Formats: sequence, C-alpha cells, structure tokens
Amino acid sequence: MKVAVVGATGLVGSVMLKVLAERNFPVTELIPVASAKSAGKELEFKGKKYKVVTVDEAIAMKPDVALFSAGGSTSQEQAPRFAEAGIVVIDNSSAWRMDPTKKLVVPEVNADTLTPEDKIIANPNCSTIQMVVVLKPLHEKYKIKRVVVSTYQSVTGTGVKAVEQLMNERQGIEGPMAYPYPIDLNVIPQIDVFQDNGYTKEEMKMILETKKIMGDDSIRVTATTVRIPVMGGHSESINLEFENDFDLAEVRSLLAQQEGVLVVDDPANLVYPMPKDAHEKDEVLVGRIRRDESQDKALNLWVVADNLRKGAATNAVQIAEYMLKNGLLPA
Ligand SMILES: NC(=O)c1ccc[n+]([C@@H]2O[C@H](COP(=O)([O-])OP(=O)(O)OC[C@H]3O[C@@H](n4cnc5c(N)ncnc54)[C@H](OP(=O)(O)O)[C@@H]3O)[C@@H](O)[C@H]2O)c1
Repeated sequence: MKVAVVGATGLVGSVMLKVLAERNFPVTELIPVASAKSAGKELEFKGKKYKVVTVDEAIAMKPDVALFSAGGSTSQEQAPRFAEAGIVVIDNSSAWRMDPTKKLVVPEVNADTLTPEDKIIANPNCSTIQMVVVLKPLHEKYKIKRVVVSTYQSVTGTGVKAVEQLMNERQGIEGPMAYPYPIDLNVIPQIDVFQDNGYTKEEMKMILETKKIMGDDSIRVTATTVRIPVMGGHSESINLEFENDFDLAEVRSLLAQQEGVLVVDDPANLVYPMPKDAHEKDEVLVGRIRRDESQDKALNLWVVADNLRKGAATNAVQIAEYMLKNGLLPA
C-alpha cells in the first residue's frame, strides 16, 4: 500500500509513523506530507529515509490511503481533493466528525458501519475514543441512560506548541503560549473555545460524538474537560447511570473481555490506571470500578489512555487495518 501521512512532522503524525511500523501495516511506499515550510526535510520509517512533500505533490503520487493529522482547516480544504483523486482519507481533525454523510469510527465500537462508498472517514476526538471503548459493552448489557464525565487531559493533546510551553515554564524560560494561562503547577478548566451554552467546544465534541459513535441519541451526556500539566495520557472520571441494575463482578468481567480494554483495578494493592502506565500502550486502561452509592444503578470508573495512540494514531491505523481486511481499501 502507498500510504500518505499528512501532518507527518507533527505530534500525532510522528506517532502514526511509529504505529504503522509497529503494527506492520503493509506499507510499500510511505509519503510523509507537511506544510511547505517542512517540504524537503527527511523522516525515517522502518530504517529508510523519506522526503517530506507538500499536499499537491502527495496527491500526484496517488497514495491508496491518506492518514490526516494536520488540523481542521487543512482537512477541510485538502481531504476532498484526495477523495476526488480516489484516495481514502482517515482524518484526525474535527472537520468531518459531525458531518452526517461521514462515518465517525472507533473500530471496537462501530467499524461495521463502514462501506465501500466511504472515502473520508473521521477519527473521533481523543477523549471520546477512550470513553466509548469502555461504554460499549456496558451499554449493550445494561443500557446507559446518562454519562457524567470529567477529564484530566495532557498537554500533548494540544500539539507541539503546548509541550514547549510546559517545558519552558519548568525551566523558567519565557516563550510562546499555547494556553491563555501558565499550565505548569496549574489546572485550566477550558479546552478549546467556549460556546453560547457555556460549554467548551471539547465538551460538546464529547457529548455529540459519543451519541453518534454509539448510534444512540437517547444517551444523555454531560462533560467538563480540563487541561493538566501532564506530558502524555488523558484521564477521565466517568459516572454512568443504567436502565438495568448490574453486578460489579460482571461489570469487571465484561470490561476485561472487551477488545482494546485492560482492567487495572486492585485498590487493596494501590493498583489503578495512571497516565504513566498508559504511555506507549494501544489499550484503554480502566480502574476504580465501583458502585455510585448515591444513586441507583450507577457506576463510577476511572479511564486512562495514551491520547496520541488510541486517542489518535492507533485508532486511525486500526480503521485502515479494518478497511484493508474487509476489502474497503485496494489490496
Ligand atoms: N494531539 C492529540 O492528542 C490529538 C488527538 C486527536 C486528534 N488530533 C488532531 O490532529 C491534528 C494534528 O495534531 P498535532 O497534535 O499532531 O499537531 P502539531 O504537532 O501541531 O502538528 C501539525 C502537523 O500538521 C502539519 N500542517 C500544518 N499545516 C499544514 C498544511 N497546510 N498542509 C500540510 N500539513 C500541514 C504540520 O506541518 P509543519 O511541521 O510543516 O508545520 C505538522 O506536521 C489536529 O487536527 C488535532 O486536532 C490531535
């Protein structure tokens, strides 16, 4: 397969190259793509050096599939050009997620909705991906009525500039700010811009994307998304209220059997998921599994994942793997 990675010099793009190599995706030719300022740079993939090209050059090279992680406006402009040239686009930005003509896919949850007509496929928001993988088996068994989620999101979710801000602050260096406030030794209860309803755009993404991926508009979702000074790995406190009652041992067993989930839950031995444990893992870790004693048929969970992997690169590569396996990409 000829594979283009659009945004290959960025945080998500570089993890994409790593994940493609690790999972042995059948790449015969890699086409790393970035903005004009990076064209000509060299990137290494599986021990071979590849020259970074522009979007126009990449389209002319006719890749079979293009994995996009170059921001919303680049996707909005360029993904249709790739699709028109017959190239399947798997897009990490928010440009196409809520477009009713585009599929929003987390392979463990809804890859079976993909068809040969799908030419631009959207990868969900990182915080949504790690949540829905855990919700899926519980919704199937007990039917979720309501989700209350609060996130603790790492600076890598913002991109290179935010990592630099945190590192500069740690060393007492004044530099460009990715956030409106210092992030080191701080917590910022704002991710993305505020909407008219008082929620941030990130919170609304979690609410709307969850319903779309789960294919169920009846699930009520509310979210508070928060940035914390952690380098990699998003954490989430999730409260679920179900239609039907549950048995805690059965919840643990359903989660343990769910593809893509690791149960890390042994409070007696101080075992619970932390961002450090999720680093470089493709799975979503879940722990602190306990009944919400303030409410009938309600459960509390703590969910952690590597936002650059399952939250972005791994999920995109898994979509490509599914499409290849099911004849939705040229073999
Ligand atoms: N970070 C996360 O956890 C995460 C998770 C899910 C989704 N995403 C999404 O993934 C995208 C990238 O995020 P990131 O964190 O990797 O950002 P980043 O580190 O800032 O990287 C951005 C990449 O896009 C490239 N780019 C910018 N403008 C371009 C253009 N006009 N044409 C071609 N390439 C262009 C950049 O190339 P240059 O190096 O040449 O500037 C760079 O390779 C965003 O849409 C983000 O919302 C991020």
